[in-house]
Amino acid sequence: MSKKIGILTSGGDCAGLNAVIRAAVYRAHLLGWEAYGILDGTHGLLQDEPLYRKLEPKDCDVNVMRMGGTILGTTNKGNPFAFPMPDGTTKDRSNEIIDNLKKMELDAIVAIGGDGSLSILRKLAKQGGINMVGVPKTIDNDIACTEVSVGFDTAVSVATEALDRLQPTAASHDRVMVLEVMGRDAGHIALAAGIAGGVDVILIPEIQYSLDHLNQKIKNIMQEGGRNFALVIVSEAVKTLEGESRHTALAEGRKRYGGIGHYIGEKISEATGSETRVTVLGHVQRGSPPTYNDRLMAAAFGVHAVDLIAEGKYDRMVAWKNRSVVDVPLKEAIATYQDVSFDDSLVHTARALGISFGDLDDKYK
Ligand code: F6P
Repeated sequence: MSKKIGILTSGGDCAGLNAVIRAAVYRAHLLGWEAYGILDGTHGLLQDEPLYRKLEPKDCDVNVMRMGGTILGTTNKGNPFAFPMPDGTTKDRSNEIIDNLKKMELDAIVAIGGDGSLSILRKLAKQGGINMVGVPKTIDNDIACTEVSVGFDTAVSVATEALDRLQPTAASHDRVMVLEVMGRDAGHIALAAGIAGGVDVILIPEIQYSLDHLNQKIKNIMQEGGRNFALVIVSEAVKTLEGESRHTALAEGRKRYGGIGHYIGEKISEATGSETRVTVLGHVQRGSPPTYNDRLMAAAFGVHAVDLIAEGKYDRMVAWKNRSVVDVPLKEAIATYQDVSFDDSLVHTARALGISFGDLDDKYK
């Protein structure tokens, strides 16, 4: 039976979103269904009339999957259950979204989002009796029940490439280079890129560092290690010695992280006398063309999401496990936050390579 499906991207963009959209549209088309792209995430559903457009395979041609960003647009603000109003109050606008989705007469929606937006969308789906399948995307890789989310691989590749470019200039000038990367409260990007990019120190929010240990590591490299430079990667939500994160407070209780790299750079410079420079990588981790891994996973996720709808399996999230696409209950995926665990095998790998986390477990090699 022919179906009408809606596809939306929600939360921060990342590489690979367009590849998911393309795969879902192609699969739906092959089944003889119609696909509609909802524009600007929940924002597009909070208008008087829903913002959407029909998506044909020709709209998602071979160039689209190579592009970062999302052709549908997205938003990472304006929680419809507590929407910030101009007078400073908040309003529950969830029913406006549900009404607009009903106007579109969709059989189901494919919601591509991170943990926050998937939680909001699931709540909307439950309240409105809307059939929904989730696709995990986030450079932070903090969604549970999936080994990896769309966008993470590209972000790690960009951060690794940045380290490849920082190393020669660090060596040329005898400097300590500090690279601040994104990731919110999870240190996955810093951990993976730190190992792949051959850093000396990885600082992540999950592992408490001490400046003494951190600085001792730098001194050892410079004084006894026979090396004139060092590379340090810092995840954006790492705290200062006073236990504060460096962030700007935004509306709706959101935080924009940024600045811990400069703090760490200054501390290293003061204690070791090394010349230090700081690079804040920022949104280049999100906007670049997706890596082959992200394209591959996005393709598998988009196809599987539509197949779940064909089978009438809703309230599920597609996931990546053991080199394959699977699906899990969406409720379980959003129930837990997947940060880096202290016994993560990559933490062990890093330590075994002599990389310091600035903590007591380091052997100052
Ligand atoms: O969640 C993805 C992410 O890129 C985080 O790593 C980062 O802290 C945040 O979004 C940045 O958000 P914005 O694009 O609103 O500045």
